[in-house]
Amino acid sequence: MAEKEEWLTPVLALATLISAFGSSFQYGYNVAVVNSPSSFMQQFYNTTYLERTGRPIEENFLTLLWSLSVSMYPLGGFFGSLMVAPLVNKLGRKGTLLFNNIFSIVPAVMMGVSEIAKSYEIIIVARFIVGICAGLSSNVVPMYLGELAPKNLRGALGIVPQLFITVGILSAQVLGIRNILGNNTGWTLMLGLTGIPALLELLLLPFFPESPRYMLIQKGDKNTAKKALQRLRGWDDVDSEMAEMHLEDESEKADGRLSVLSLLSQRSLRWQLVSIIIMNMGQQLSGVNAIYYYADNIYASAGVEENHIQFVTVGTGAVNVFMTISAVFIVEASGRRLLLLCGFGICCGACVLLTVALNFQESVTWMPYISIACVIIYVIGHAIGPSPIPSLMTTEMFRQSARSSAFMVAGSVHWLSNFTVGLVFPFLERGLGPYSFILFAIICLVTLVYIWLVVPETKNKTFLEISQMFAKRNKVEIKLADVDLPPKESKESSAPPVWDDQVMQ
Ligand SMILES: *[C@@H]1O[C@H](CO)[C@@H](O)[C@H](O)[C@H]1NC(C)=O
Repeated sequence: MAEKEEWLTPVLALATLISAFGSSFQYGYNVAVVNSPSSFMQQFYNTTYLERTGRPIEENFLTLLWSLSVSMYPLGGFFGSLMVAPLVNKLGRKGTLLFNNIFSIVPAVMMGVSEIAKSYEIIIVARFIVGICAGLSSNVVPMYLGELAPKNLRGALGIVPQLFITVGILSAQVLGIRNILGNNTGWTLMLGLTGIPALLELLLLPFFPESPRYMLIQKGDKNTAKKALQRLRGWDDVDSEMAEMHLEDESEKADGRLSVLSLLSQRSLRWQLVSIIIMNMGQQLSGVNAIYYYADNIYASAGVEENHIQFVTVGTGAVNVFMTISAVFIVEASGRRLLLLCGFGICCGACVLLTVALNFQESVTWMPYISIACVIIYVIGHAIGPSPIPSLMTTEMFRQSARSSAFMVAGSVHWLSNFTVGLVFPFLERGLGPYSFILFAIICLVTLVYIWLVVPETKNKTFLEISQMFAKRNKVEIKLADVDLPPKESKESSAPPVWDDQVMQ
């Protein structure tokens, strides 16, 4: 093609950084923020309860309050992800990101004053609201960036949100070091700090353009779209790209949109849908967020020395950031299936070994090191496959017309599973002790077997090829009419995730 080389203009780079820092970063930050100060916060719950009722808190009730404080966040995330579609169409992409800051600044203030107000209820409600913020931003940032980026940069920019999530996790772990904010007096500030990126985004993002695609197609505002595109590309001649957008829009409209309900009843997509549901459940129920929500707890029960725990936790976060960067390069070379199988296999093995190590920690002095190694190996295994790949595959298995509904299903499964783990893990740990990780190992194994049997490699495959691979299982025949799809389709279905959704971790 005789097109000009499209490059990362300062406007595009800054818009990417500000929206990823303002939104995606917060998502990761709030996952890990409750880990380090948990003992101080539980003390606060205890004394608050004592002052109110005159009796010390019962252990079961404290565990319940605490797991609610942790898991209201993913529950909020679930509701947030349901709000995506109406908000992005009404307020625009940038508009939604700006509006979303309410769901961060308000709970930041609430969490900041919770100690003075002597109320743990405030923290629990604030966690729910900040979860809404995460649920929205986990979908809207990738959408906004995907629509700002020129085609050749879409893949690279699509990974930026995921990267900022891991950086957010790491930042919360660093701030949680005892000498910084992870102490008796610092934890309210630490919880409240999530408002700072939101405030920065609120001040800076208005100076950057709204998605030109949204302005043109949804709003029909040609002038604003053109100006936005000129700023983003750094040159004046954007007419051909505008025309392209129009064309794309028309072919999408011709395709029609599948609602969630009609997606559920589509025979030809049944096993693809089951596959993304299982992969998202496997991703979350394999316990990755249990590691981030409750890392210190896990290390403490593994017998790691109190003083060392915080640094081990930070180390885990750093490994996670590093592996997420590496995964970007590995995933194109090795394909998706292999990475998923390896990833779930590694996680399964690490959980089994961790169970053994936790059982023998009393009798063998170097066992805590084995436990630390297990957690780090688990994090590596998860970062190469189970974390990043399910959303990538959702993009590849579904055509444009069904993709947004597929992401809605995947997102709901993702957040509800995340919620389940956050809520149940403390009870699981108290009830089963070291054996709670066997449960995660079993889930990893089941997911692995399912992927082994059902999920095909999707790398470099067109949408048509993928649906043919599924056709026999779906008991449908691919009709000749489908073969006549425009060749452009193949390009689109292998495009990098525009709707990418998190780790979700
Ligand atoms: C609550 O605090 C009291 C007094 O400090 C302490 O004895 C008790 O063990 C605490 N309860 C729990 C469940 O941690």
